Amino acid sequence: MSFPKDFLWGTASAAAQVEGAWDVDGRSPSIWDVAPKGKIKHDDDCHTTCDCYHLYKEDVARMKAMGLKSYRFSISWSRVVPAEGQVNPKGLEYYSDLVDELLAAGIEPMVTLYHWDLPVWVYKKGDWKYESIVEDFKDYVKAVIEALSDRVTMWMTFNEPSVFVNQGYCRGSMAPFEQQDAETVAKITRNVLVSHGEAVKVIRKYAKKTPKISIAIAAKSYTPVDESSEKSIEWARYMTFEGSTIVSANVWWADPCYLGVIPEPLKGAISEEDIKIIHQPLDYFCFNNYQSYNYTDGKSDYSDDGTKLPKNPNIYPGLPRTAMGWAITPETLYWLCKFFHDRYNLPIMISENGMASLDVVSLDGKVHDPVRCDFIVRYLANVKKACEDGIPVLGYQYWSLFDNFEWAMGFDPRFGLIYVDYRDFTRIEKDSVAVYAEIIRTNGENLPSVEVANKR
Ligand code: BGC
Repeated sequence: MSFPKDFLWGTASAAAQVEGAWDVDGRSPSIWDVAPKGKIKHDDDCHTTCDCYHLYKEDVARMKAMGLKSYRFSISWSRVVPAEGQVNPKGLEYYSDLVDELLAAGIEPMVTLYHWDLPVWVYKKGDWKYESIVEDFKDYVKAVIEALSDRVTMWMTFNEPSVFVNQGYCRGSMAPFEQQDAETVAKITRNVLVSHGEAVKVIRKYAKKTPKISIAIAAKSYTPVDESSEKSIEWARYMTFEGSTIVSANVWWADPCYLGVIPEPLKGAISEEDIKIIHQPLDYFCFNNYQSYNYTDGKSDYSDDGTKLPKNPNIYPGLPRTAMGWAITPETLYWLCKFFHDRYNLPIMISENGMASLDVVSLDGKVHDPVRCDFIVRYLANVKKACEDGIPVLGYQYWSLFDNFEWAMGFDPRFGLIYVDYRDFTRIEKDSVAVYAEIIRTNGENLPSVEVANKR
């Protein structure tokens, strides 16, 4: 079988990256709103970005016209709980209206509860470093569930915990721009994981409609250098689940949540009691991925955890890369669907995948993005193969519907299917809108074989 009939063809976004309206209707700032000078490229800020807060009706109409079946968005904690103990009805009303608009357009809302925008008041209280943040997170989640769970069923607790912990607290390249010692990072990890587990319990307890819950991990993928060799495939699988000593490893986050296993370096930070909370039943396995990591640096023979990589004959000077410098490696999606399904035995959701390119408005007033058109077809051909192999894949969420605020890189990278002029919020549909809409209309039937799609 190819794509199932009810496959969720969608796009993904995050509150801080698209909403704007940072101080409107009672919202208080998040750590991204107050980034110190010099930390974000060009000193861009996310105060207004795409203004989806005000333009959501128009935006949903575009999604409907494209034929989208799902829309993944996140909730801004500081819009819902702007100060300790205060729930903001206006903030909840915005999300409730957005959900209504989506459902009226026949689009499944998929809600992420935390996509990196910690409220400043929580940060000041002690951030992910204090244990009782778990209680604050639970209160916030409860408020959201009470307001939306009569209509929303698809929930994700966290987006890419490895990325905000690694970049926010180890490398210092994302808010709150800190470089903490290993012990503090382990403690933060414990608090995030326990918050995940407690959030799952809150959702199950208060949801009015039976929820389907997951956590979106940032998947590091290693693909076989030679797909015809069993040894090469097993090397790729090994590497995909290797690296339990580093915060960005898949198993650091996924094994505690899905298998109840504490990775070795976290044994001092996570207790037996904690792991019981963390290990809650989940309904599907969500992953975000953009590239295969054995191509991250064409020159090095080592992965970032120091493991020697076999010589990759597929790396050559001029290998196609996106505007982020990420290698275009469509096979990554096939292998991740396979490896994650083999290990965790749950239906798969690709909660993010996409690319940034140097998009400009051409003289004809349009935005032509041939590389993205090609990218989408190639990557989706690999998802099709996973479906044909019998792996239950529930959906694919392209990152992102709009160009948006790319965190510390500001507005330079453009990932959207829709171009945004941030001066006046004008939207221009890029050529890839039509390509994706046609794939959706035909339920992926005309996608090429992987032999064609993966050739470069
Ligand atoms: C994040 C998004 C980000 C995208 C592109 C993912 O890591 O979840 O917020 O914009 O990748 O970098």
